[in-house]
Amino acid sequence: MKKRTIQLVSLGLILFVLTSFLQAQTRITVEVNKPGHTISPTLFGIFFEDINNSTDGGIYPELVRNRSFENADTLQYWKFQSTNGNSSALIFNAATAPQGFRRQMAGPLNPLNLKSLQVKANGSFKLLNDGYWGMNIVKGNNYLFKLAARVTDDFNSPLNIRIVSSDGKELASGVIKDFGAIWKYYPLTLTASGSDPKAHLEISGEGKGTLYLEMVSLMPEKTWKDHGLRIDLAEAQDALHPKFARFPGGSWVDGSDITRMYYWKNTIGSIDTRAEVWNLWRYYATNSIGYHEYLQMAEDMGAEAMFCINAGMGGRDIIPLDRMGQWIQDALDAIEYANGPVSSVWGGLRAKNGHPESFNLKYIEIGNENGGSAYNERWAVMVKAIHDKYPDIKIIANEWAGGHPKDPVPEIVDEHYYNNPDWFIWNSNKYDSYDRKGPKIFVGEYAVNRGTGNGNLRGAIAEAAWMTGMERNSDVVVMAAYAPLWCNINNKAWPVNLINFDSHRWFGLPSYYVQKMFADNQGTVTLLVKIENAPKVKIPVTSGSIGFGTRNCVAEFKDVQVTSTKGKVLFKTDLSKIDEKWRKSPWGDWTVQDGVLKPAPSPSQMGGFMFMGNSIFMGDTLWTDYIITLKACKISGDNGFQIYFRNKEIRSRNRWDIGGSGNTTCSLDYGLLSDAKNVSIETGRWYDIKLEIIGNTIKGYLDGQLVQEISDTKMDVKDINVSATRDEKSGDIILKIVNSSAGPVKTQIDLRGAGTLTGSGKAIVLTSGSPLDENTLEEPTKVSPKTEEVKFSGTKITRSFQGNSFTVLRLKTSK
Ligand code: AHR
Repeated sequence: MKKRTIQLVSLGLILFVLTSFLQAQTRITVEVNKPGHTISPTLFGIFFEDINNSTDGGIYPELVRNRSFENADTLQYWKFQSTNGNSSALIFNAATAPQGFRRQMAGPLNPLNLKSLQVKANGSFKLLNDGYWGMNIVKGNNYLFKLAARVTDDFNSPLNIRIVSSDGKELASGVIKDFGAIWKYYPLTLTASGSDPKAHLEISGEGKGTLYLEMVSLMPEKTWKDHGLRIDLAEAQDALHPKFARFPGGSWVDGSDITRMYYWKNTIGSIDTRAEVWNLWRYYATNSIGYHEYLQMAEDMGAEAMFCINAGMGGRDIIPLDRMGQWIQDALDAIEYANGPVSSVWGGLRAKNGHPESFNLKYIEIGNENGGSAYNERWAVMVKAIHDKYPDIKIIANEWAGGHPKDPVPEIVDEHYYNNPDWFIWNSNKYDSYDRKGPKIFVGEYAVNRGTGNGNLRGAIAEAAWMTGMERNSDVVVMAAYAPLWCNINNKAWPVNLINFDSHRWFGLPSYYVQKMFADNQGTVTLLVKIENAPKVKIPVTSGSIGFGTRNCVAEFKDVQVTSTKGKVLFKTDLSKIDEKWRKSPWGDWTVQDGVLKPAPSPSQMGGFMFMGNSIFMGDTLWTDYIITLKACKISGDNGFQIYFRNKEIRSRNRWDIGGSGNTTCSLDYGLLSDAKNVSIETGRWYDIKLEIIGNTIKGYLDGQLVQEISDTKMDVKDINVSATRDEKSGDIILKIVNSSAGPVKTQIDLRGAGTLTGSGKAIVLTSGSPLDENTLEEPTKVSPKTEEVKFSGTKITRSFQGNSFTVLRLKTSK
């Protein structure tokens, strides 16, 4: 071997020994006899949102799609076949039918269900419905078929009802007959003689005359706890042992506009009279899982129900303050429905709907992702009315647009986080130093939904790291839920969702198993943990162009210049026109006038009450280190303006937000680094702004004064995250250890003061061959936890934690 090669090999060996030595140094010390705070009894729950066909075509097991024919003016999701070509079918709308005609006919099934299917028969005909991407039919099971029908013009044919497999075999059949001139329901129980997850329903007849059909339904007889939920899916969510269930959204609470918001009063009582509404996640919602069923679902899981109610703010519009009466009353009535005595109006209805006992609703959230002054005003009036009548109800506020209402100060605020794996790892200690004097935190929606494929191991590991932070700090984070929970794989409207299913199967993301591992191994009190010598998280230096933005504000920008660190001018605006190469956010426009750049008024700005964020980007996406100088002036609005840097995509939030959160805050954010300061700016004043972007140190100056600085040199985040608890009931000591680094980390665990350890326990480990590994319908548990016995002596455990792994060590004590 040549001398140089020998030298290199020796160097490699030294490095290897050194690395192994350093690895062995990671120490986790748990103070077993120094219990900290009690873990919030409501810490981990679920967020049940009507998205991705989670209810219709999901947990609500109706097999017929568009059973009420309300979805469209055409036979949507139905097929009609006329054997001789002489029969026809159309959607009959009682509201728009010609007057004379309407007078002759019986009315609609009910005033909320105006459309029905009209078949003009002249010979044999057939109607087919595939349900929600195929009906799952299981041999030996009973299916309850029902429809409402009326006939005219002497229609007298019986109807053959068949369930047919995708390859044409009859799986069940029956006959209904003797129709009359007024609406009547015709039920049938069908027993399946075979199985097929992609079966369909056929209704056929032969003869002359006119037939009207309504509410054509086919439901499995068996449902979860006999409360009308698809069994496998209900079990999958129940297995998470949720301590609370927030419902029904999400953005669904707001709706795409105020006419399509969630009105709970339209979702109770007979399913035939529940008005169907276009769900902004792109399908018709039948509201069959209505307010009552959500409360029932929560009760059946042993979870506290949390109703998120509209705050008088739709996706596009806001109810004037002096017309909030209905919204206030809806909130009061919702509480009365859930909890009121049977003698009360709404409590009486609850009893009539099958639940005389109170549902004991304790939590109500006002609005979803609403913010700014409009929200604060509506919050104030709704809270006052609710607390005047129901002082014990816990009312949750939205934390949005960088703030939450201050009058009255909420008891609990709902924060939402969607980001990439690095962000969650980097922020895993966010709550360690959180203000304990402010409102309690409900992390109502969180998930790694970027940089995680369809939901891979790496995303799950990052969430596990983040969850250790919530558990460690559950004196302040009192509730948290992953979002969204459900997705029918045939209608995915959101990129990453916890449980995915088709007509008969489901799989959980690796994140599902993280949720379950936390839920199964919670513990009742925290134990103090110290981590030493763990690998540090490294932050990459990125590149990108610059940009400007406003939200809830009109502002002007001029004299923009970008200079390299060596003083070379990289970019200068002349601002005589908008350069076509500049990229704009899709929801706003920009103008230049007299050398000044400013957002063009958006329709909502003109409406006067709501502003969308508006941003524009320019320059080279390959720039790394540079200095931006410009002048900017706030003209009007609640907030200030933003200067973007190292920007590659419109949604990136590398920016300095000056005068955000209602002009109270300056926030400097760069990937994993962020800082917020109480700074407000004056309206009508031109500020000289300078942003220095060098390596991972960013400095922001206003009028020559350094206002804010972020730097990775000041941050110290580890790739080992731990939460330690004790379960007072079993006496078990439970350690949750996340290794988010790429390689194994050798660790010594010192359980101080744990004299009662038995030396045995188990390790539940979630990891996989690659951080990119995902689960699928075909391989539903490819990434799922494995359990092994653990034996040790004394109070020290030496263990290597694989790269990208999450381990629960559950250690027995003799109490
Ligand atoms: O969970 C998906 C959506 O994310 C929710 O509807 C909304 O609250 C959030 O923006």
